[in-house]
Amino acid sequence: QRNLDTFQNEFWVSKEKLHEIIDVFVQELKKGLHDNDDPYQIPMNPTWVMDYPDGSETGDYLALDLGGTNMRVVIVHLLGNHKFTKVQTKYRLPDHIRTTRKREELFGFMAECLGKFLKEQNPDGIPEGKTFPLGFTFSYPTTQSKIDSGVLQRWTKGFDIPGVEGNDAAALLRDEIEKREIPIKLVALICDTTGTLVASRYTDPDTIMGVIFGTGVNGAYYDVVADVPKIHNQLPDDISLATPMLINCEYGSFDNKHRVLPRTKYDVQIDQESPRPGQQAFEKMTAGYYLGEIIRKILLEGYETGYLFKDLAQDSEGAKKLAKDYILDSSFLSNLESDDTPDLAESKKEFETKLSINTTPEERLYAKKISAFIGTRAARLSICGISAVCQKMNYRKCHVAADGSVYMKYPHFPERAAKGLSDVFGWDGIKEEDHPIKIVKAQDGSGVGAAVIAALTHARNVKGL
Ligand code: BG6
Ligand code: GLC
Repeated sequence: QRNLDTFQNEFWVSKEKLHEIIDVFVQELKKGLHDNDDPYQIPMNPTWVMDYPDGSETGDYLALDLGGTNMRVVIVHLLGNHKFTKVQTKYRLPDHIRTTRKREELFGFMAECLGKFLKEQNPDGIPEGKTFPLGFTFSYPTTQSKIDSGVLQRWTKGFDIPGVEGNDAAALLRDEIEKREIPIKLVALICDTTGTLVASRYTDPDTIMGVIFGTGVNGAYYDVVADVPKIHNQLPDDISLATPMLINCEYGSFDNKHRVLPRTKYDVQIDQESPRPGQQAFEKMTAGYYLGEIIRKILLEGYETGYLFKDLAQDSEGAKKLAKDYILDSSFLSNLESDDTPDLAESKKEFETKLSINTTPEERLYAKKISAFIGTRAARLSICGISAVCQKMNYRKCHVAADGSVYMKYPHFPERAAKGLSDVFGWDGIKEEDHPIKIVKAQDGSGVGAAVIAALTHARNVKGL
């Protein structure tokens, strides 16, 4: 079929290319630990989490988890002995909030949800004088000079709210909590990767990284203070160079200089049309937020060149929807890829519901194959971050905890990622379950990590207490 071979070639990332990308990735990780001078570089943000959880932490903590698509409020009861229980409520973030012109709307919404949650959990009223310690999972790049603050470097994942970049997100939330007189003390601000790593390590000590394959793409790991020269002049006197430092890489911004990633013209367009052109180059090729937009651009091109949807009138509802940016999300590709019905009947409905387009079986098969090219590329590229960290830290046998809608829901993503790692490390012939570096599903959400970190803030090694 026309174009399919071309697309396959363009989207395929060979073993050799993976190696080339990982070499540059390792260089960028190291450079990011040295200086903050270059805005087009992986930030490698120190989190001031300077301790490994050992599973013995106890106490009750509140966590607010603002992820890519949902917001969760969780009360976590850390029981020690690697065990915990939790009660969680999920709130859908109203779509317009991503780009609201008023920052109070976002932070006010979060505070409202916290207040509502506490009321529900304490039907007989909150005891006089009680204050709940809160861990805030704010999954955007922040500069932290201490554990309970984080100055937003730049919005990612399509968020674009004025007055937050350059400001402390913890302080903005604190203000809204105080305005409403909610008895909460924000004690830690973390990223979802940090939370995923710490939560998984609380139950599985072999975990060395927390990664997200979701609306965005990112990873966190523990380095040692000696290898993070850019913070040496900020260290309290009693911290030795051998102390661990958890680093939130923010490697969605890998290769912002476009040295090595195999970008297609669709990737270039997505970047140029985004609110932050030149940023998040790696994320824009791999993360759920962009996968739907990549296929939409390809389908639109097929239509405009007269190759697809030949009977679709130019002024029809379908043509209008197809021309609408970001109308498709990653579930469109997931659903196509998991459709095994004859003639892809399920996908016929998907096209009708999401795009108001009546398709032929050939068109659906074409779209399914394109989805597989896009999904495979995302999975193979995504593991470059893991490979680079393992290479830098010399990890040969370990667990990497993964969370996010793409890892959890996108068909074949975990197998494709494991195959990518196997290609990189040369594990041909070794069964997936025996791979030395194993990506495992992080089950409990990064809110649990926020709670463990809130508990760890009582430890000597966390700066800013
Ligand atoms: C959730 C974590 O499980 O996954 C969040 O608790 C994280 O902290 C989220 O941000 C990422 O997934 P997505 O697909 O919503 O971006
Ligand atoms: C984006 C954010 C990062 C987050 C990732 C996954 O890359 O900048 O902080 O970890 O998405 O949610």
